[in-house]
Amino acid sequence: MTGGVAGKTVWITGASGGLGEALAHAFGAAGARLVLSARRGDELARVARAVSDAGGTARALPMDLADAGSIAAAAADVARVEQRIDVLVHNAGQTQRALIADAGVDVYRRLFEVNFFGPLALTKAALPALAGGGRIVVVSSIAAYYSSPYRSGYNASKKALHGLFDALRAEAHRDGISVLLVVLGSVRTKVSVNALRGDGSAYGRMDPAMAAGMDPAEVAARIVQATVAGREEITVAPLRQRWLMWRKAWFPRLASRAVRLRPRG
Ligand SMILES: NC(=O)c1ccc[n+]([C@@H]2O[C@H](COP(=O)([O-])OP(=O)(O)OC[C@H]3O[C@@H](n4cnc5c(N)ncnc54)[C@H](OP(=O)(O)O)[C@@H]3O)[C@@H](O)[C@H]2O)c1
Repeated sequence: MTGGVAGKTVWITGASGGLGEALAHAFGAAGARLVLSARRGDELARVARAVSDAGGTARALPMDLADAGSIAAAAADVARVEQRIDVLVHNAGQTQRALIADAGVDVYRRLFEVNFFGPLALTKAALPALAGGGRIVVVSSIAAYYSSPYRSGYNASKKALHGLFDALRAEAHRDGISVLLVVLGSVRTKVSVNALRGDGSAYGRMDPAMAAGMDPAEVAARIVQATVAGREEITVAPLRQRWLMWRKAWFPRLASRAVRLRPRG
């Protein structure tokens, strides 16, 4: 992306907290004009104000990724007000903390709405405004390469995103649209607190891995860098989590033994 993101329109989903809030600050500090989306309008307004206080430009645009009408309305609003989208950051996401045996199918539908169908619908709506140089940034996870127990729906939805956006990268090249997949290890956010239990309620607990995770501001800075550099895929994870991906790729039987739950009884 020649000339960086200064003056460019960057639309970030999941910007009401966690990594999305850090991305808002990082893209804002780089001079981008931000559109910030998530469900909680009050939190979005707080983030937009903080970006403005730091000298940036941001507006809050509430949107629910599990609601097709809300996505269409937000995309129409951006097309009318901003006209062009230079960078669309699919950051919003939700995870799971339940065994497959205990999780209702509705939990999987919900995870796929937020993590897959929402980003798909938003991308389709945004394609015309992205044509001619636009960039799509997809926040994924090492879970796309390495499936561990209790988060099966999340693992599956992140893997599905790779299938979708690798194909879009090939298809949309002729329209000048590029795609960056960001494969993340643990980041210090409330992602586990907001995870779904088997009955669809919130897990409500901070996992030790998240508490000890990477600093969201540092991760956000790496994502801005990779966006500007035109990268197609990056992995931002500590060595021990990269090793889990390599182990799965090169020693799959070892990997599958390592993640097994202990026999009952
Ligand atoms: N934290 C990690 O360790 C980690 C690791 C790998 C990948 N990731 C990925 O990083 C991304 C950001 O997650 P995070 O760690 O910052 O988690 P988080 O703190 O739970 O933030 C999730 C964000 O997604 C938004 N969101 C949730 N449901 C939504 C919906 N239906 N419609 C619109 N927005 C919705 C939330 O806002 P509202 O509640 O206001 O809607 C919030 O802003 C996710 O894609 C996640 O999978 C995180």
